[in-house]
Amino acid sequence: MIKTLKDLDLKDKKVLVRVDFNTPLSDGKVADDSRIRAALPTIKYLIKHNATIILMSHLGRPKGQVKDDYRLEPVAVHLSKLLGKDIRYIQSDGPISPKQIEFANSAPKGSITLLENTRFDAGEKKNDPEMAKILASYADVFVNDAFGTAHRAHASTEGVAHLLPSAAGLLLEKEIEILSKLIQNPEKPFKVIIGGAKVSDKIGVIAKLLPIADEILIGGAMAYSFFKAAGGQVGNSLVEDDKLDLANELIKKASEQNTKIILPIDSACATEIKSDVEVKIYPSEQIPDGWMGLDIGPEAIKTFKNSLKDAKTILWNGPMGVSEVAPFDKGTKAVAETVSELDGFTVIGGGDSVAAINKLGFADKIDHVSTGGGASLELLEGKTLPGVKALEF
Ligand code: 3PG
Repeated sequence: MIKTLKDLDLKDKKVLVRVDFNTPLSDGKVADDSRIRAALPTIKYLIKHNATIILMSHLGRPKGQVKDDYRLEPVAVHLSKLLGKDIRYIQSDGPISPKQIEFANSAPKGSITLLENTRFDAGEKKNDPEMAKILASYADVFVNDAFGTAHRAHASTEGVAHLLPSAAGLLLEKEIEILSKLIQNPEKPFKVIIGGAKVSDKIGVIAKLLPIADEILIGGAMAYSFFKAAGGQVGNSLVEDDKLDLANELIKKASEQNTKIILPIDSACATEIKSDVEVKIYPSEQIPDGWMGLDIGPEAIKTFKNSLKDAKTILWNGPMGVSEVAPFDKGTKAVAETVSELDGFTVIGGGDSVAAINKLGFADKIDHVSTGGGASLELLEGKTLPGVKALEF
């Protein structure tokens, strides 16, 4: 059990809040604000309780150095627009630089401050106790709402939680509740769609879900490792040759557990990855030399759609093909469309699947769009996330 906002005395308190504002920027502006919007319920809750709010987040991977491209200024501007309130922000050498300490400590009552990128300080990733101590000195209580970063034991996620009365924010609480239910007690039939380039990235999730799910639909380049492992001919498709035994083992386990693994029956193939290239549809286990499977094919799309129809719970993580290059985005788009039309409880995680659903404007038709990439995978693998563990009673 973790502590939640109800377990904290917030009224008139200074509250340090870790959010995950690691959002894509373009031309100095926020390009996708889903993670910022997802943090709004907690921020609004704190505003309602007259709290003085000090927000902190990382952005990208600046490797412990101050880099202008990784400043949180565009996020401060965007958040201010979304809330219709001033957000205090100053450019500084990091969240515990002298200038920032002074700025955080002079926050007026009821104001909202956004600290500079936590990863400008090398102590963040090292979970440096000194850094955590300075961050903790800014406030009376700590709220962690950064689900996307909950799998990292960093100074601003895990370290600081031990130094102040701490609790999960509303987003973190919701993500854990929904994703944990999927691996504990999903309504059946439970169908899982897994995609992406590598079997190795998803192996933990597939292994965990095999005894729980009724069907696991596999798309993306990882499917070719399964086909090759079974003796199929996959041409020049991306394959992890050192994972073929693992793929066979998963197929064997699936049949022992009566879980169906559904692979794409056909594939959209080309000789190179670019838009204006000749595309041929081949059975996925008979791809000629020189050709690569780059997306699930039309028959596979039909099979996937058919399989998902009766699902009561659906989890989708990972693209079905090279979704960033048209026309190899067709499978991912078709799955996005199908999932958005299903009656069952739908959950989507992982950057590319979430991007596909956002691009189509279907996000509001999905019951839960997770803000976590690596964090949601680790949670679904059944791992304990350090940022969450630090909030246990
Ligand atoms: C993410 O985007 O998955 C989180 O913000 C974590 O970022 P990281 O992988 O750089 O730690």
